[in-house]
Amino acid sequence: MDDLDTLKSELVAAVKAAPDLDSLEAARLAALGKKGRLSDLMKGLGKLDPDARRDAGFALNRLKDQVVDAIEARKRELTDAAIEARLATESVDITLPPRPYPLGQGRIHPISQTMDEIVAILGEMGFAVAEGPDIEDDFHNFTALNIPPDHPARQMHDTFYLPRDKSGEIKLLRTHTSPVQIRTMQTQSPPLRVIAPGRTYRCDSDMTHTPMFHQVEGLVVDKSTHMGHLKGCLIDFCRAYFEVENLPIRFRASFFPFTEPSAEVDIGCSRKGGELKIGAGGDWLEILGCGMVHPKVFEACGIDPMAYQGFAFGVGVERLAMLKYGIPDLRTFFEADLRWLRHYGFPALDIPSLVFGS
Ligand code: PHE
Repeated sequence: MDDLDTLKSELVAAVKAAPDLDSLEAARLAALGKKGRLSDLMKGLGKLDPDARRDAGFALNRLKDQVVDAIEARKRELTDAAIEARLATESVDITLPPRPYPLGQGRIHPISQTMDEIVAILGEMGFAVAEGPDIEDDFHNFTALNIPPDHPARQMHDTFYLPRDKSGEIKLLRTHTSPVQIRTMQTQSPPLRVIAPGRTYRCDSDMTHTPMFHQVEGLVVDKSTHMGHLKGCLIDFCRAYFEVENLPIRFRASFFPFTEPSAEVDIGCSRKGGELKIGAGGDWLEILGCGMVHPKVFEACGIDPMAYQGFAFGVGVERLAMLKYGIPDLRTFFEADLRWLRHYGFPALDIPSLVFGS
């Protein structure tokens, strides 16, 4: 037995002294391997008589367990130490600024940036993003929005029509994002709170119009939604977007077939000395259209207008981008001029967020 105690201390000492995983494996083999010291003793058991064999076997197994435990413990120590050492050498200084070049040469287009800003602000207010197709049918783009076939508002939209398809139907490029209101109300039940950013198309091209442009639509439907909610929501939105706390905002009565009453929203600005400044001043700038959802629109979507009310709004993304970032000419957005993009674009890490706000 004394022999076994000595053997145990020797083996355990060798295990504990192993400086790395390789030496630990060598110590394991020396003890428990085929030719290890314990295995040698195990082999000798056969020569003993049964009683002595049982006692010796028991003692050897106990010793083996103790050596195995010591190996496991040392292994854990060594792996933990290896991880600690790696963490210490591979630490990253997260306070370093990002490397601007060459990785940072790409730029986010001001339209994408502006859309992200709008979505960040309205997302924070609880709006979810909804989408619809660019190629629409007459029903979603016009009829369901209370613009029947002979309605004069159709002329105002300068619609791009596609050739008649096999079924005889004429599809069109959506002239506004309002058809997404219809698609949302057809597929989801109120309460609703969605925004729909996307491309829109009108057959029009001059200094202030391009055939393709972008809008963000907003729609809120609930049992008691009223004009006060519409005003509060858009006032908060304009002030957050332009980052002007007391930005003057005016709601001017207007007309859209799909809202009643309808309004256009103007923000305060000054044009002193030929320079446009957003904020207080004697002038006004129109920036979006809005109103309370027309009962006929609810009816077209199968929502009971006696039970539900809602408001909707639509903003032009280019216009918002031009005003905030001082971009003078609408057409330059779509000329794909790299010099323009380098000047007006945004670095990839400039992610709009109200949490890390600028
Ligand atoms: N769809 C309208 C346009 O393109 C904007 C709008 C949307 C107005 C929603 C009122 C409500 O001019």
